[in-house]
Amino acid sequence: MYKTQLLPRKWLVSSHRSIHVRFLQQLSSPELRSRFIQYFEKQGHTPVKSSSLVPHNDKSLLFTNAGMVPFKEYFLKPNTAPFQCATSVQKCMRAGGKHNDLDNVGYTPRHHTFFEMLGNFSFGKYSKAEAIHYAWKFLLQELELPINRLRVTVLEGDQEAYDLWRKQGLSDDKIVKCGPEDNFWSMGDGEGPCGTCTEIFWDTQDSSLEDPWLEIWNLVFMEKYRNAQGELTDLPVTCIDTGMGLERMASVLQGKKNNFQIDQFQSLIHGLREVMKARGLKSSTEADPSPHEKIVADHFRAMCFLIGDGVVPSNIGRGYVLRRIIRRALRSAKQLGLNEPFLTDLYPSLLAGFTDNLYSELASRASSIQSIIKNEETAFLATLDRGMALLENVFNQAELQESKQIPPQLAFQLYDTYGFPFDLTLIIASERGWSVDIAAVEELREKQKIAGRESWKSDNIADKSRLSEWRKLNIKPQFTGYDHSLLHQESKILAVDTVKKGKSVEVNIAIDPCPFYGLGGGQVPDKGTIELTNGNDWEVIDVLQPYEGGLVLRIKPLGSNDNIEQRIKEDYEYLQRDQLVRTHVDLKRRQGAEIHHTATHLLNAGLRKILQAPDIVQAGSTVEPNKLRFDFTYGKPLKEEELNQIENWVNDVALRGSDTIVKHMKLSDAIQSGAIAAFSEKYNETVRVIDVPGVSKELCGGTHVDNIRKLYPFKILNETSVAAGTRRIEAVAGLSCIEWYRKAYKPIPEVLKLLRANGTHEIIEKLEKSLQQNRELQKRVDFMNEKLASAGEAVVEPISSKIKDVDIKIHLIDSDLDSAFMQKRANILKQNQSNTAHILINGNTIMVALNSTKIKSESANSIMKQLLKHIKGSGGGQKELAQGRLTEKITTKDDIISKILPSLKQC
Ligand code: SER
Repeated sequence: MYKTQLLPRKWLVSSHRSIHVRFLQQLSSPELRSRFIQYFEKQGHTPVKSSSLVPHNDKSLLFTNAGMVPFKEYFLKPNTAPFQCATSVQKCMRAGGKHNDLDNVGYTPRHHTFFEMLGNFSFGKYSKAEAIHYAWKFLLQELELPINRLRVTVLEGDQEAYDLWRKQGLSDDKIVKCGPEDNFWSMGDGEGPCGTCTEIFWDTQDSSLEDPWLEIWNLVFMEKYRNAQGELTDLPVTCIDTGMGLERMASVLQGKKNNFQIDQFQSLIHGLREVMKARGLKSSTEADPSPHEKIVADHFRAMCFLIGDGVVPSNIGRGYVLRRIIRRALRSAKQLGLNEPFLTDLYPSLLAGFTDNLYSELASRASSIQSIIKNEETAFLATLDRGMALLENVFNQAELQESKQIPPQLAFQLYDTYGFPFDLTLIIASERGWSVDIAAVEELREKQKIAGRESWKSDNIADKSRLSEWRKLNIKPQFTGYDHSLLHQESKILAVDTVKKGKSVEVNIAIDPCPFYGLGGGQVPDKGTIELTNGNDWEVIDVLQPYEGGLVLRIKPLGSNDNIEQRIKEDYEYLQRDQLVRTHVDLKRRQGAEIHHTATHLLNAGLRKILQAPDIVQAGSTVEPNKLRFDFTYGKPLKEEELNQIENWVNDVALRGSDTIVKHMKLSDAIQSGAIAAFSEKYNETVRVIDVPGVSKELCGGTHVDNIRKLYPFKILNETSVAAGTRRIEAVAGLSCIEWYRKAYKPIPEVLKLLRANGTHEIIEKLEKSLQQNRELQKRVDFMNEKLASAGEAVVEPISSKIKDVDIKIHLIDSDLDSAFMQKRANILKQNQSNTAHILINGNTIMVALNSTKIKSESANSIMKQLLKHIKGSGGGQKELAQGRLTEKITTKDDIISKILPSLKQC
């Protein structure tokens, strides 16, 4: 369903306008949902709750984009299905990947990013005849749609479907035959179950539309399986997959021109207009919302549902799609005049559209959804203005007026520096009639990979140019490294790949079995060595996963000074396929990683428990041999008290000393049993679960300690913000924690000695006392200086001289007194003896001070400058005060007479 192609012209011609218009049932969206589910339940279907927008059983999809996605496996293996037929209302998202409606939203009557799909499914229980019969009866009898406004399409050559429709009473002119582009359904271009389909259309009778026929239901007869190469094979049995867009059908039943006028959207659009009014903005009263209103409403629904299912804004994958959706919404809002954060004010209007509380996450995760949106919104609004201003600049540049093309460098900079999603630049450009060289921007983007944790992941694949070679080989060694007794073992070389890299050569090798960990999940790869049969050792410097199931070791000769080409020659015949090697995984590094990996799980559990926030979502994690970093969604900084409680909890639990249990389970069973899944990860049908009974249960492919006692002691080092709504904790556990304490406490004995303290508890007390004493002494010194400076007795009798007609007095300041004193003395002298200019000297320091209202012919600066022409040094200043440094020290009256006076005379 939701194909963008229009129907063939012949189809349009066959429609007629003189039909009798009767009143339709006015069903609200919640009523439509329950009528659909009840109807199919009555026909023996098991009602199934909508699964997440993040497909946990399908690695090929970014989002659940059709009702059949959660059931994909059952079409392939019907006997594994827990029911023979099912019915559901499924949350769907088409904003990224192959099915992407993002760009159409707001400008067509029915495109959405998020929408709901009603469906009925059979896994071998019934076939085409029943599927057509059920659908037809639902439309005619349950919804009481008038038959004369309905038409169907069938695949040219599918006589069976044609005859089945005829049997339902449809006349020939209401059954249109189309080609496979319309009536063969498959999952995007890719792999998966597929088959011919028949589609049901509704005559909107809206002559303003180019195509008045609205596709309302797609019935797919799943009979084939398409593999990655595009080849079709038969499924074990014929299955049925149907999909009806809830918003479309609601628009039919509610007699609305487009989806944005149905009940759910009405409340959102009303909410938006109210928000605008409250902010003194003029809002529309039109029944049909404007494109920008539609975009805000659509995208707001999408962002709430995505965050509700655990997606957090980020720079890659799903998180990036979410970020784009939020930013596009804000940009449209700006066009409506909304410049300040407002999105969360719409939340009650969203809930008002889902009165049946079908999606309980909207209520249970309300605060977290709103705080993530608010943070992202605040962060972006600040940059939106700067980005827009930059673009405005470009639009005004005379030399670009002809080409009307935004320079790729700027489009990239907007994205890279200002966080402007590229599609936003495209929209703004096209609104102004400008274009962007997309390929050139992509190239720049490719060159500069997005920084962050994920870039480690994407770097962690074998050299891109060699990736396809490795893929072709499709070697999938057995990973045996979960078992420590297999870290030192004999393995066989499966493939060796040498790549010339400048002056050096990179060597990648696959061995089987492979005990070196490199499966990602945040855990750093193992290091170690492999020993060839000639006794030479090669160091394993990285473990790469070029494709799923592939493990490739990047190696270099042990001992960094060895010439690699020389060593390759020497070891050539031993570095060959089928040769044996002995593996030595660096156990210490591995054990450190294991401690921190299990500690990450406990920290995750501790955060949820102490903060009473079961909806915390892992946003990233790095597990290293000597520390861990855990990013998670949480709207505000953690208090010190909370961090202490979490730290205590992890330590208490660790001391209980439970064993960790590794289980392999079906994904659905694991989720049902409460296991935490990282939403950003994709999982296989059978998953590995790390269970610390009663404490933590997580889906994870990483390596872990066998007993959690090894995590003790555990210490949180810091808690910071990484992005809007995302916090980061760094922590250390086990021996690394002891090591951390050792380093942190290293200076302590020295400090104790200096402070003459009898223990660490006295450090603060003694320091405070000492600082207080210091402050008091400083005050006293200031006071004494002041006193001394005005007393005048502390200085030697001044020597008089003259520069031109200005009287000068030269004061030798006692060398025990500092420059603060000199300054004070200079101020007092120029006030009390204002007809004279004063030169103050103390060792190398020289100052000139005068009262500029009394002495007008010279300034302090000019005297200093003249003096420095005849005596070595540097300095300068203002009218009343100048300071300098002499190369030679002046310490006695004789020095003044022999060095300063002659210099003055020359001035
Ligand atoms: N899978 C089909 C579609 O998406 C029917 O649900 O149109």
